[in-house]
Amino acid sequence: MADRVQVSIADGSMEKAAVDGIIVNLFEGVRVPGGATGAVDEALGGLLSEAIRLGELKGSLYQTRIYPSFGRIPAKRVVVVGLGPSKEFNLLRAERAAAAAVRAGSKAGLKSLATIVHGAGIGALDPEQAFAATVRGIYKGLYRFDAYRSSPEGSRVERVEVVERNEEKRVLYEKVFPVTKTMAEAVAKVRDWVNTPPRDLTPDTLEEEARRLAEIYGFTLEIIKGEALLEKGMEALYGVGKGSQYAPRLLRLSYRGGEGKAPLALVGKGVTFDSGGLSLKTAQGMETMKADMAGGAAVLGAAQAVGELKPKVSVDFLVATVENLPGSRAQKPGDVVRVQGGKTVEVLNTDAEGRLILADAVAYARQEGASHIVDVATLTGAAIVALGQEASFLLGNDEELLAALEKAHEAQGERIWRMPSWPEYREYFKSSVADIRNTSSGGAGAITGGLIIGTFAEDRPWAHIDLGATVFRDEEAPYSAPGATGGTTASLVQLVLDWAERK
Ligand code: BES
Ligand code: ZN
Ligand code: ZN
Repeated sequence: MADRVQVSIADGSMEKAAVDGIIVNLFEGVRVPGGATGAVDEALGGLLSEAIRLGELKGSLYQTRIYPSFGRIPAKRVVVVGLGPSKEFNLLRAERAAAAAVRAGSKAGLKSLATIVHGAGIGALDPEQAFAATVRGIYKGLYRFDAYRSSPEGSRVERVEVVERNEEKRVLYEKVFPVTKTMAEAVAKVRDWVNTPPRDLTPDTLEEEARRLAEIYGFTLEIIKGEALLEKGMEALYGVGKGSQYAPRLLRLSYRGGEGKAPLALVGKGVTFDSGGLSLKTAQGMETMKADMAGGAAVLGAAQAVGELKPKVSVDFLVATVENLPGSRAQKPGDVVRVQGGKTVEVLNTDAEGRLILADAVAYARQEGASHIVDVATLTGAAIVALGQEASFLLGNDEELLAALEKAHEAQGERIWRMPSWPEYREYFKSSVADIRNTSSGGAGAITGGLIIGTFAEDRPWAHIDLGATVFRDEEAPYSAPGATGGTTASLVQLVLDWAERK
């Protein structure tokens, strides 16, 4: 877990830092480094500019090079991370560069690091945002999931100093650090949950985690479980869990900081394993389906951060959690279920289960008086077809809420892309026996999947985030371990913090 690293803000200059390794950066195409990188180059007698001249050091995006300092500065090593072309540079790249650099330092066995804030100089980013991005990158880059290894691989970075000689900036950084750190810790927690094997992370586990959060932060906890779902009219959520030994359930943590104002509801898909049910997935299609609870995990992670930060706003955190398995009791293609509130859905494909469980959860959030509803789900492969790994997929019925989500993502360096929700798409999921069906014809699978959920928000302001491929990475990246990314968690927290400032 990343929270073992100590991150702090320090005064001074990089070339004087008493650490194992110092981190500087370089834009692509720069021949003579300036700023902190230039100062370090000078202290090293021009070693970096010589490496640039030789074509050894290029500044290409996330390229890392580690040079010995030969006793010219207190740090034994210098890590140089490439920022790529300056005209493509942004917050996301600042964060990833920070992550790539600390990862490289970690792999080289360095135990203490000092880094500059990436992008605050010629990168021309807002200093506060550049600092937050650097800090996010430090935590994300050092994250690893070792719980299931008999012995952890390699060594660990124990300490990272973010060095800034300008006092005004240091004061600014100290001010934003606690919030950034709290968010980063929530993200790491979400990554742990998502990475945990489905044997050990079941609906029971998510319930326990919700209980733990309720106890620590004083949230009200409501659990509607098994047959009790039927009493509340939630056949859709109940139906998906029928093939599993673990009872399906709806978890709801209520945080009330908003003095009587109706809550914002964050609703997550918590399918702890998605086999597809009787509409069984292929073996390969199941390989990453322990991550099908990433939306629910992001919502619980956001609850953790909100519990820590205590903003003046009311929020309901809901997680619909089930295990989607086949079996003699499992629901069947052709079944019709009644969603909370009375509308019926024909289940033509048991693998389109996310929209079923979220239909009930969203309907319940509306009935319980949420003023605005945001659902978060690894809902469709089609979102991955549309946007690849680069962005989450956004749609909804309310301009203010959609714009607030875009702004929150932007602030956290996370990408989200708005898609249309034209009424014509509703034709795509008409049923011949029920009010609607859970699959669609005519394409636009990620849009129709979202709109099926939106049906149950009715006219309440609602937005849907399909996490697609942003929450799980099959391969290691220079800036990240493989597996869960914790994506969207920080943006949800940001949304809540912004929401507290609203009106
Ligand atoms: N959990 C999957 C969606 C998914 C697939 C997320 C791959 C991330 C990676 C979801 O429950 C599902 O299976 N959706 C189906 C819907 C279809 C049957 C209408 C899909 O996308 O194929
Ligand atoms: Zn599925
Ligand atoms: Zn699923």
